[in-house]
Amino acid sequence: MIRSQIIGCGAYLPKTVLTNHDLAKRVDTSDEWIRTRTGIQERHIVGPGEKTSDLALEAAHAALADARIAVSELDLIVCATTTPDETFPSVASNIQARLGMTRGAAFDVQAVCSGFIYGLAVADNFIRAGQSKTVLLIGAESMSRLLDWNDRTTCVLFGDGAGAVVLKAGEGAGGNADVGVLNTNLFSDGRLHDYLYVDGGPSSTQTTGHLRMQGKEVFRHAVTNISAAIEASLSAAKLEVADIDWFVPHQANQRILDGTARKLGIPHEKVVSTVAFHGNTSAASVPLALATAVADGRIKRGDLVLLKAMGGGFTWGAALLRW
Ligand code: UT7
Repeated sequence: MIRSQIIGCGAYLPKTVLTNHDLAKRVDTSDEWIRTRTGIQERHIVGPGEKTSDLALEAAHAALADARIAVSELDLIVCATTTPDETFPSVASNIQARLGMTRGAAFDVQAVCSGFIYGLAVADNFIRAGQSKTVLLIGAESMSRLLDWNDRTTCVLFGDGAGAVVLKAGEGAGGNADVGVLNTNLFSDGRLHDYLYVDGGPSSTQTTGHLRMQGKEVFRHAVTNISAAIEASLSAAKLEVADIDWFVPHQANQRILDGTARKLGIPHEKVVSTVAFHGNTSAASVPLALATAVADGRIKRGDLVLLKAMGGGFTWGAALLRW
């Protein structure tokens, strides 16, 4: 059977670093509160004029170089983002033009913090259906542009960045020893809109709006939903928690990472955590964490990797792959 195999990955963080101490000068907060409630120490944010597509392009170049393939081999670009440069066209179209890709298709996927898992499911399904052979999947965000910088309950949590992978059609026997994406499991519950949303948009206010969140409610659902998605991926592949080499979660809050690990009996040392230095970068957080653990040698060829995320919508999901 056809398997979608990740043949390269890359990441990019904007140069400007905003520490908790910097934030404490802008709103009534403290390094101690942010660290103990979230695990975040600092985050990167875009500079003046820097756009989501600029971050996405850097990550795309890094992933293509790692994959050692030419742009002419790509037949699809999918970009997961909730902070596009413009309402339309998509960031993916912008990247297509800037890479000099003149064939195939490009579009964005919008599932907020679960965007990369949703994008991976889309890319995997295109490949397994035989419609695409080589796909560039990007998660890129400028969350700092959506924040209300006077709202201490949200502005301390988020950061900007981008990560990307190149997927290529390969052969597998159909079992869980195959290299590539073994399964993806997506979920959503649109009734939970009010817990996490942006209070603007083209057809409502004709403005971009600001991110609004009832953090406690999001937290309450996060551990339960993420655990359910992990269990769905494991049982579909007839695997157990102990079989997984690396868990690469969406990086929202160290306490959510710890709570999920505790609930499912995942050893702390198998969880890739970058939240301390990236904050919550929404759709970019999973590929940023993945690229970090690949670059530092933790994730090696043949390892079983479980990606998981949850975000606005609510949306959540998991993806199981053999690296
Ligand atoms: O990617 C998915 C999207 N987001 C998430 O996954 C976020 C999920 N939620 C969370 O991570 C946590 O709920 C937060 C980190 C957002 C908040 O932590 P919490 O332990 O749930 O705190 P809280 O909302 O119950 O607030 C406790 C107190 C409140 O003061 P009072 O009412 O007890 O006097 C807040 O006003 O902390 C106050 N507070 C702050 N204090 C200092 C809220 N934000 C801050 C702040 N600095 N930045």
